Amino acid sequence: MSTLLQINASLAGANGQSSRLAQRFVADWQAKHPEGRVVTRDLASDPVPHLTADRFQAFLSQPDARTDEQRAHAEYSDALIEEIKNADTIVFAVPMYNFSVPSTLRAYFDHIARAGVTFRYTANGPEGLLKGKKAYVFITRGGFYADATDTQTPYLKQFLGFIGITDVNFVFAEGLGMGEESREKSLAQAHNAIGELLPRAA
Ligand SMILES: Cc1cc2nc3c(=O)[nH]c(=O)nc-3n(C[C@H](O)[C@H](O)[C@H](O)COP(=O)(O)O)c2cc1C
Repeated sequence: MSTLLQINASLAGANGQSSRLAQRFVADWQAKHPEGRVVTRDLASDPVPHLTADRFQAFLSQPDARTDEQRAHAEYSDALIEEIKNADTIVFAVPMYNFSVPSTLRAYFDHIARAGVTFRYTANGPEGLLKGKKAYVFITRGGFYADATDTQTPYLKQFLGFIGITDVNFVFAEGLGMGEESREKSLAQAHNAIGELLPRAA
């Protein structure tokens, strides 16, 4: 059975522009995968905590040497990793906040990047261990950055590639804060782009 994991990072939750674009894709995916399972993680209503030294130490410690608190920290991260491991399609709804991805998404990434679990170092360099997945990233922005000032997209590609997710499609809706005409044009273009993705999502 196909499983799609949708991760919303907008502080507006499901009402965010990015979440709504992602939702359009997910609805179409569901139409193509009536037996498919959709799991939704909303980082605004259910935020992943910042990575602290205690939490990171818990990840590094041997399972049988963990304190109760370390075990709880490790199990929390394990559950997030299990969730993404079990998905073959992953959808990220990502607004631009202060020229970057939302800090909630960074905190989530900090909890799923685990040496020996989602990546490992080999003689040939790092190897991502979450292989064979497709990712779709729906990015919304108030302004325009589709040039060298876009640091968000290379970062997301690099991070996802590092954990083994190399088949990544991006859909952008830019200029959403530049007046109604700009917003409507951009959202219409994004919807068209989503329509292009669907045959490949089947
Ligand atoms: C806290 C905050 C920071 C933002 N920073 C930027 C920014 O750096 N660049 C930009 O183009 N838009 C910025 N915006 C505008 C959002 O990217 C834009 O409104 C986007 O549509 C939000 O997507 P969402 O509705 O999914 O949250 C910011 C919005 C918020 C709330």
